[in-house]
Amino acid sequence: MTTLTDANSPRALDRQFHVHGQTNARLHQQDGPTAMAMRGHGVRIETDDGQSIIDGFSGLGCVSLGYHNDRLAQAAMAQMQDLPFAPTFYGRSHPKVAELARVLTSKAAVPFEKAMFQCSGSEANDSMIKFIWARNIARGQPQKRKMISRWRGYYGNTVAAVSLSGQPHMHAGFGLPMDDFLKVSTPNFYLNAKAGETEEEFSARLADELETTILEAGPDTIAAFFAEPMQSGGGAIHPPKGYWTAMQDVLRKYDIHFHVDETVCGFGRTGHYWGAQAFDLTPDSTTCAKALTAAFFPMSAIMFRQDFFDDLMRTSDASGVLGHGFTYAGHPVGAAVALEALRIYDDIDLIGHVRRVSQPFLAGCEALMDHPLVGDVRGIGLFCGIQLVQNKTTRQLWDPTLKVGTMVQDRAHARGLYLRSIPPDRISFMPPLIITEDEIAEATPILKSALDDVWADVKTRL
Ligand SMILES: Cc1ncc(COP(=O)(O)O)c(C=O)c1O
Repeated sequence: MTTLTDANSPRALDRQFHVHGQTNARLHQQDGPTAMAMRGHGVRIETDDGQSIIDGFSGLGCVSLGYHNDRLAQAAMAQMQDLPFAPTFYGRSHPKVAELARVLTSKAAVPFEKAMFQCSGSEANDSMIKFIWARNIARGQPQKRKMISRWRGYYGNTVAAVSLSGQPHMHAGFGLPMDDFLKVSTPNFYLNAKAGETEEEFSARLADELETTILEAGPDTIAAFFAEPMQSGGGAIHPPKGYWTAMQDVLRKYDIHFHVDETVCGFGRTGHYWGAQAFDLTPDSTTCAKALTAAFFPMSAIMFRQDFFDDLMRTSDASGVLGHGFTYAGHPVGAAVALEALRIYDDIDLIGHVRRVSQPFLAGCEALMDHPLVGDVRGIGLFCGIQLVQNKTTRQLWDPTLKVGTMVQDRAHARGLYLRSIPPDRISFMPPLIITEDEIAEATPILKSALDDVWADVKTRL
């Protein structure tokens, strides 16, 4: 039997051989992984050191149905036995992907007639960027190439998707973003509003900023605006009042393609099937991923209208093929799992469940407003952002070198709850969508205790 310290233990092998993304490379090289997940059930993960952890971050915002599901396992197994792979290139297909395209488009927030599949949110967004460029070239507007997105947004890590992403740590050191990827402000009302500004005034100011950005760049050079309905990578940033109305008015005024990234918000996270429905968005195209397969298989999709596809057909006419695709796109096992996941969502009325448990979940989070470390709490559905501050009156943040958010994340982990800390000291809390009221009643006090632990430590530094 191996122990945690054996040279061949999973931790030792991981430390020695495995390079991790979005991880402190030096710390990992020194200390190895911060957790080694062995198995999961419901909303819990069991680690190699015997800890049972409630996953308050749904893996990476993807594990909608938790860590065990017989129906999904059966769907994957049956498909692996029948047809483990089939390409979708050269016009070849298989029944599961055809059916998934039908089902997914039938569930879209706005009428979309077409779906195309990839393996990740990044690939989906990259595909969409290329298709928007291709559409513009086909329409004789090749100069329409500039993309606008928001600081703190997260659209993935491929070269173009990361250029959309507004996360400086993913650009510095890589010589990115690419040119022509413009950014506007994150709609973080609590931290970025001016003194005395209302939410509506703040929203109007951000819409003005978008308009100025469009005018300065030249409206006929702008290809699209990409946004998540509620920013996840930015730390669960709920849009302020009037924000999406004002932003969409500007997009409509300049006829700018609006791509809505539902990678996190899609399939119930906000208590609506799509984030677009939660915030009254009218997308011209959309990305979905993560909960598309409940994270049991890597799969993503983009959806758009027939008129968009008509232009892509012109691209295809010019060279003979639509010159884009991925080997594993539309994978039969992924498609079978996605179809089953979408059936399960309907069968268990997942959206109704999220709406019901959202009330105690958000109430538990909002109760943390009394805590000396917590400046702001705002969420929807099972998606909540908690802003830690040094001074609740002035909204002054902690010295970033203290890493107060990371301290809370680590203390919560030690006490049996996964959360995510995102700069500047925002805690993102987004448990699996099947979480029960009892589990919420267990998880929220762990967060409170973690905040108490950290407060005991940092209050001496005030
Ligand atoms: C909104 C959003 N878009 C895209 C992505 C990228 O997805 P992936 O990591 O599957 O490439 C993420 C990842 O978290 C995301 O949150």
